[in-house]
Amino acid sequence: MIEFDPRHRIWLLSTPTTAYALRLDEDGTPRHVHWGRPLTLEQAAAVPRFRDPADSSFEHPRADGAELPVAGFGPSALQVRFPDGGQEIEWRYDGHTVDGGHLFSHLTIRLHDRLHPLAAELHYRVHEDSDVLERWTVLRHTGEDAPLELLRVDAASWGVPLLAGYRLSHVTGAWSSEFRLRREAVPGGETVLTSRRGVSGHHTNPWIMIDGGGADEEHGEVWSSALAWSGSWRITLHRSPAERLCWSGGFGHEGVTWRLEPGESLETPVFAGLYRPDGFGGTSRSWHDYIARHVLPAGSELRPVVYNSWEATGWAVTEDGQKDLAALAAEVGAELFVMDDGWFGARDSDEAGLGDWAPNPGKFPAGLHGLIAEVHRLGMRFGIWVEPEMVNPDSDLYRAHPDWVLHQPDRRRTLLRNQLVLDFGRPEVVAWAHDWLDRLVRDHEIDFLKWDMNRAFTEAGRPGSSDPGRVWIDHVRGVYEVMDRLRADHPRLRIEACAGGGGRVDLGVLRRTDEAWTSDNTDAADRIAIQHGYGQIYPTRTMAAWVTDSPHFLTGRDLPLRFRFHVAMAGVLGVGGDLTRWSAAERREAAELVALYKEIRPVVQHGVHHRLGEPPLTGAQYVADGRVVVLAWRRSSPFGAPPVPLRLRALDPGARYRDEDTGTVHHGAVLMAHGLPLELPGTDYASALVRLTRIT
Ligand code: DGJ
Repeated sequence: MIEFDPRHRIWLLSTPTTAYALRLDEDGTPRHVHWGRPLTLEQAAAVPRFRDPADSSFEHPRADGAELPVAGFGPSALQVRFPDGGQEIEWRYDGHTVDGGHLFSHLTIRLHDRLHPLAAELHYRVHEDSDVLERWTVLRHTGEDAPLELLRVDAASWGVPLLAGYRLSHVTGAWSSEFRLRREAVPGGETVLTSRRGVSGHHTNPWIMIDGGGADEEHGEVWSSALAWSGSWRITLHRSPAERLCWSGGFGHEGVTWRLEPGESLETPVFAGLYRPDGFGGTSRSWHDYIARHVLPAGSELRPVVYNSWEATGWAVTEDGQKDLAALAAEVGAELFVMDDGWFGARDSDEAGLGDWAPNPGKFPAGLHGLIAEVHRLGMRFGIWVEPEMVNPDSDLYRAHPDWVLHQPDRRRTLLRNQLVLDFGRPEVVAWAHDWLDRLVRDHEIDFLKWDMNRAFTEAGRPGSSDPGRVWIDHVRGVYEVMDRLRADHPRLRIEACAGGGGRVDLGVLRRTDEAWTSDNTDAADRIAIQHGYGQIYPTRTMAAWVTDSPHFLTGRDLPLRFRFHVAMAGVLGVGGDLTRWSAAERREAAELVALYKEIRPVVQHGVHHRLGEPPLTGAQYVADGRVVVLAWRRSSPFGAPPVPLRLRALDPGARYRDEDTGTVHHGAVLMAHGLPLELPGTDYASALVRLTRIT
């Protein structure tokens, strides 16, 4: 619901359990008033204005708190260079509109600069079933003469009430070690989280959580924001001299500019925000619910158990080899068979073939139909790996179109993984990619694409373009366009987001995909932490997790099959090992565990997720419709130091819960106060799966 108090010029946006308020100040600037627990309009009008205690000539009374800061001593969310060289903006208010209905409400505040032909719209959207507030900005050149140089256009700026201290939670990592959760004090001055790689990135992921330092899994106030953008991005936190914390975020890193021609508009992606009073767990659950309802295109579906060939065959793909794997995959219960890299062009390694998207005639003499028919005969859906944004210089595509890659005139073209990036900001590249993907899907009854992207941008430019900075944003828009068109034309097609594992997971790509490949690191022991970080914002139903071979190809760790399964069962389970090397007994055990996963899948994928425990014993609890599933993992613990039991959460203390496997009846109150009794053998890499049903 959105209300407006014309006397105090305050807007109040109410979500089911929170409120956000902003004021139109005397200088025409919309500024933060409140973000937190529910308030009435009258209460919002009574929120005291922030006063800088120093009040010195080295501070500015209006420096902080703008909804879209354009000047001041903090980071400017909007920076424009006008034709006269000036960069000042003084807003004039043109009015506002509220639209929507009972499902959502949408506020648009319209502003223009007092001197220059620049208009802005600040957008706010709230849904009736979510506490997430979506914000974005639209700029328009309202003149007829010279273009405007946009130096920075963030989607929104967020601020929290004054706290005694601030702690930032975010994830950081690298290829095969994504999503490592960090919690650290926000220093004074500025903190920048960014990606300059053209993708949202392995290094940091475009979301943050802020608390006062004392929040835990179930308690405490947490403010968070997440950006719906899959290219390079920047979030800048500013802890002012007066200890106020605001942050601003949007697409593009520093130096990515955009020339706005007369009559043209630029719309930013959404930078969504969420306040929760119930700790990090409550924050994660609210994001999960929002993503399932409002971001994913088919969020209410259950995801199938995948078999993926990558770790088994690498580039050594053959029709017979894939059929052998498919037979074994069907035997262990896979529902979707995905042939990974290596099926096309001269693709025998990462050195050649990218860009030539026809089946390799040596590997598939009669095309893909034979394999696909066999996969379908085995009762599985068929999926295939593609990397549409890339080209190897050793390819027919590159030989024909060397100018299609991102590059700068007369500069080297840096190869990473022996490949270059195709410029998806060029309409002819987008048309080419859409054409071959559409034909591939249409001609082969393909149910699923694993859309990969395996290198960062370098020398990102488009010679001859009058506005080369656009490539960073145009590229992502081109990728979105192809995905959107494919989904619209092939409604049953499902897509997995992948960028060398979890290098491109964000609310933007999840709007047009169904799951994400979390990490190329499939070692279950490492995965516990990776999955822990992933799930801070992104829901289980999107987190692809395979069981692969042991010892693990990256870490050399030898882990029990059961442990590997129990870790992967905390996401969208898949199998990615070389099944031809698994013993019959291992395949039988795998089939039993896959069958068990299918039984608990509705609870795991669509239930409410609670994180449990502290290392070495951690776990996940899922709750749906009176059923509770607990997965528990103990990494390594010294003999004689038994780990602290996992205390379950959010049960009915007065209810009883029956263990579906042993028949043991537990009291909800006891499970929450004293934990779930587990018989875990040995000291290292033991795990358990417990299914409980509420009986009273
Ligand atoms: C990177 C992906 O993350 C892997 O799963 C695999 O698809 C390879 N690319 C294939 O080149």
